[in-house]
Amino acid sequence: MNKDVIIALDFPNASEALNFLDCFPAGEKPYVKIGMELFYAEGPDMVRKIKARGHKIFLDLKLHDIPNTVKRAMGVLSRLDVDMVNLHAAGASEMMRAALEGLTRPDGTRPLLIAVTQLTSTDAKALKNELLIDISMEKTVMSYAKNAAAAGLDGVVCSPLEAAGVKTVCGGDFVTVTPGIRFADSASGDQKRIMTPELAGKSGCDYLVMGRPITQSGDPVAVYRRAMRDFFYR
Ligand code: C5P
Repeated sequence: MNKDVIIALDFPNASEALNFLDCFPAGEKPYVKIGMELFYAEGPDMVRKIKARGHKIFLDLKLHDIPNTVKRAMGVLSRLDVDMVNLHAAGASEMMRAALEGLTRPDGTRPLLIAVTQLTSTDAKALKNELLIDISMEKTVMSYAKNAAAAGLDGVVCSPLEAAGVKTVCGGDFVTVTPGIRFADSASGDQKRIMTPELAGKSGCDYLVMGRPITQSGDPVAVYRRAMRDFFYR
């Protein structure tokens, strides 16, 4: 199974994103995540430009709509030649199966398809009082992960604290993509359920998503290499 550290390119425009990538030496091509901010600002051309530079791309657009709309949108994303895309498991099984169908290219290949279970910004109070889900966050996440696995998806985005549980419930090959990664000596910012790259590696996380600790650092290349080292050679 593949494992990697993915840098969240949370920048407002192409020039800031590309300037950031220019910090890396020509032969070093980190896996990157393009989210809504950069994609909505710059469109599919941003994806093509970064892909042409040789980076793997996780396109984090979190689709959630009726099955037919998601299927057709996934067809468009698969033609962008990205490596990983995602959707909300809350869209339910029929939507997830349609997404998989739309994403699969005529030659049978497709990017990895990952489900967001519950956003890490949703707390127990909002789950109960606003989403009207009366079971625990842990059980909700595991149940959504099981639905995603049954629909044929490759894995889930989850908190690093949930990765081991997801592997137990859905099997060792089911991919876990985990934001909320921080070094023991760095600021946590708005992330609440955090883990170090080293511990995440030991806890069944396959892809670590790291943004600000790398992008806001004075020496992003050194910080990225430190995360890779801690994750792989713990
Ligand atoms: O800067 P930081 O390391 O917190 O960046 C984490 C990235 O992962 C951000 O792009 C954020 O949108 C994304 N993410 C997250 N929590 C989720 C899903 C995605 O932090 N549950």
